[in-house]
Amino acid sequence: MPAPVAAPAPVEDRRSPFIRLAELIAGVEPGRPALSAAVGEPQHAMPDFVGPVLQEALPGFGRYPRAEGTPTFRAAAARWLDQRYSLARPVDADREVLALNGSREGLFSAAIVARRLVAPRTLGKAERPAMLLPNPFYAAYAAGAEAAGCEAVIVPTRKDSNWLPDLDALDPALLARTVALYIASPANPQGAIASADYLGRALELARRHGAYLFSDECYSEIYLGAQKPPGILEVAGADLSHALAFNSLSKRSSLPGLRCGFVAGDPAFLKEFLAFRWVAAPQVPEPLQAVAVAALGDEAHVTASRDLYRAKFDMADEMIGARFGYERPGGGFFLWLDVSHLAGGGLTGGEAAALKLWREQGLRTVPGGYLARRDIGGTNPCENWLRVALVHDLPTSKEVLTRLVTGLA
Ligand SMILES: Cc1ncc(COP(=O)(O)O)c(C=O)c1O
Repeated sequence: MPAPVAAPAPVEDRRSPFIRLAELIAGVEPGRPALSAAVGEPQHAMPDFVGPVLQEALPGFGRYPRAEGTPTFRAAAARWLDQRYSLARPVDADREVLALNGSREGLFSAAIVARRLVAPRTLGKAERPAMLLPNPFYAAYAAGAEAAGCEAVIVPTRKDSNWLPDLDALDPALLARTVALYIASPANPQGAIASADYLGRALELARRHGAYLFSDECYSEIYLGAQKPPGILEVAGADLSHALAFNSLSKRSSLPGLRCGFVAGDPAFLKEFLAFRWVAAPQVPEPLQAVAVAALGDEAHVTASRDLYRAKFDMADEMIGARFGYERPGGGFFLWLDVSHLAGGGLTGGEAAALKLWREQGLRTVPGGYLARRDIGGTNPCENWLRVALVHDLPTSKEVLTRLVTGLA
């Protein structure tokens, strides 16, 4: 009998991890000049064509952008998907791609549309629609699920299941009221990569229950081994129904401030999503889409950036070794560290570590518990973990690592 995963909904702090972190360290003077490894904001040099392309596209600021994005941007996204993945057929830029103002708002608002589409079709009045989230998870998933009036069901992940939700342990009664599943690969913060087989099983499960699979692929280009992370669109085959891939230029091209991303997949879903977006979503200014088109057409800066992440993780391998439960992740740019040795005095290990690193080293990091919720059994499995973003250049990252290992010792 699989263990049910529908945990009782305990009262949780739903605020942003960064607000909670600011509160944790408020009034505490940093012991050294402040250095942030908290936010997953790539600080690598942005591609040098950004300025000239933007300059050329300036007249576009004089127009309201269309909700779906420019035809050129959608075609560029479709072309990139086709080149990056082994797709059964090219993505249809007109029907199967929409521009997003960064993947975050898309991941949030897609929940509202999924609930509208699925709930009336499959659920009885008494049943509360559910959305399944991995634990830990990106905060926009839960915010979207809850804004859509769904129960955000936190599905445990374990180190021995590659930090991915155990699909076989999902309660059939829960699946029957599920309208969407969120999966992130590479995951934030653990950097786990879902195999094609895993994604295929997740999509099959979603389809069987009339639900959508929201595949958050915004770290898809930051992989640390030779293997590129598989994507949901290649796993889906020629039929993209129920499969939605979210991606953006934020991590791939080190352009988090561009606020440009896209969603691709199920055309029936995207039709409804576009109708919603015409009245409710932020558009992407046309000049910024022009920059994104240039960025999607260039892989050289992506390769250089990936090499820099690899060099930083080489340094982390050397400087951290096997301490603090450290393992080189498959992808992403976070260190995910076990700091249970610091728990105490009313603080979780993650909080105590973040506070100590700030007070002694001026280093800002995020307590792992702030990125997760309590799951089955009532405990937050990440409360004794710490997230450290390796987003700077090499010398600054060395400084981050030096302060980190000194402060955690
Ligand atoms: C897992 C994950 N998904 C989505 C996002 C959103 O990124 P953006 O809105 O910049 O595309 C982030 C940003 O940190 C993230 O870590």
